[in-house]
Amino acid sequence: MSASAAKRYRPETRLVHAGTLRSQFGETCEALFLTQGYVYETALSAEKRFKGEEPGYQYSRFSNPTVTMFEARMCALEGAQAARATATGMAAVTTALMGQLRAGDHIVAAEALFGSCRYVVEDHLPRYGVASTLVEGTDLAQWQNAVRPNTKTFFLESPTNPTLEVIDIAEVAKIAHAAGATLVVDNVFSTPLWQRPLELGADCVVYSATKHIDGQGRCLGGVILASEDFIQNHVHTLLRQTGPSISPFNAWVLLKGLETLAVRVQRQTDTAATVAVALAEHPKISRLIYPGRTDHPQAAVAQRQMRGGSTLVAFEIKGGKAAAFRFQDALKLVRISNNLGDAKSLITHPATTTHQRLTPAQRAELGISDGLVRLSLGLEHPDDVVEDVMAALAAA
Ligand SMILES: Cc1ncc(COP(=O)(O)O)c(C=O)c1O
Repeated sequence: MSASAAKRYRPETRLVHAGTLRSQFGETCEALFLTQGYVYETALSAEKRFKGEEPGYQYSRFSNPTVTMFEARMCALEGAQAARATATGMAAVTTALMGQLRAGDHIVAAEALFGSCRYVVEDHLPRYGVASTLVEGTDLAQWQNAVRPNTKTFFLESPTNPTLEVIDIAEVAKIAHAAGATLVVDNVFSTPLWQRPLELGADCVVYSATKHIDGQGRCLGGVILASEDFIQNHVHTLLRQTGPSISPFNAWVLLKGLETLAVRVQRQTDTAATVAVALAEHPKISRLIYPGRTDHPQAAVAQRQMRGGSTLVAFEIKGGKAAAFRFQDALKLVRISNNLGDAKSLITHPATTTHQRLTPAQRAELGISDGLVRLSLGLEHPDDVVEDVMAALAAA
């Protein structure tokens, strides 16, 4: 499917067909090109490829047909001109940020970030002379006030991990652009199905493909999507020369994962909404956060920028850590894990796992109380999940 053809089809169709490169054998299923390098018919051809005068592959650290298929399918889904796949989501985040930044630059990021992303912004980048400011992402005035003459990029995720706050991407993009900065959005929690940050004004989108894109707990991966200029200016050379590359095998698993992404995410979102309804009036719950509901704190923004709710629900159990631990341990079907977007429903206690690196005061500022749990819905029958959650709450 060519780029122009891809535009004609709906996302579900692009997820099955876009980017396919069929070999001379005419295979139905996309081929796995498990090769490190490529041979050239002649010495002249090798020279031309290295000079960029002849199209073709050279070395799988920076180009491989299976990886190309995954990148092209992601572009067709996201509406991006170009993409580069990486070994993990963190490789995608780190490359998208470091590729743009130099010593003396400044980055502004929302404070509600996945723990490792926060480490990159708060601890890693400053080591190389890049100053960083963290803001409360839903407060637009804070983004504006954080701008300095040397601000080069803004970074956020929405909905946020784990409290599922929704940040207004279009408004933050306007502030970034007025300041001469770019906006990078980590779109993991909403998935490409429910939110398209490039259409909202973002300059670059990053994913941990480890999550919904694989969706079956098999492999790690990441992807960076942006304009051709952004990829060429900030991403391509850094990736090519430093090598946080994806294995062709993982790219193939993720490519096949994309075929079923729409069906899985729709089912997970429906189950999450069902669980949220069941939890809404529960006497043991003091707070329920689900972006698809009208009682969500940023319901209007969610309605404007997202096409669907979320595959996750966050809720606070009365009784703090002890009650949250009793609840998790009483679950029979839902498993305890820090992962998300999987076929299996997974429960996380952020205060003691993904966000335990933060101080109690930092967690309090982010609304990560000791009673808060994050539930990622899987593909089980929704009634089985609801029954498991209700039985465990009774025991909490
Ligand atoms: C929002 C978000 N961004 C980035 C990552 C990092 O992805 P990976 O584990 O694939 O490196 C994760 C999860 O781990 C995440 O939840």
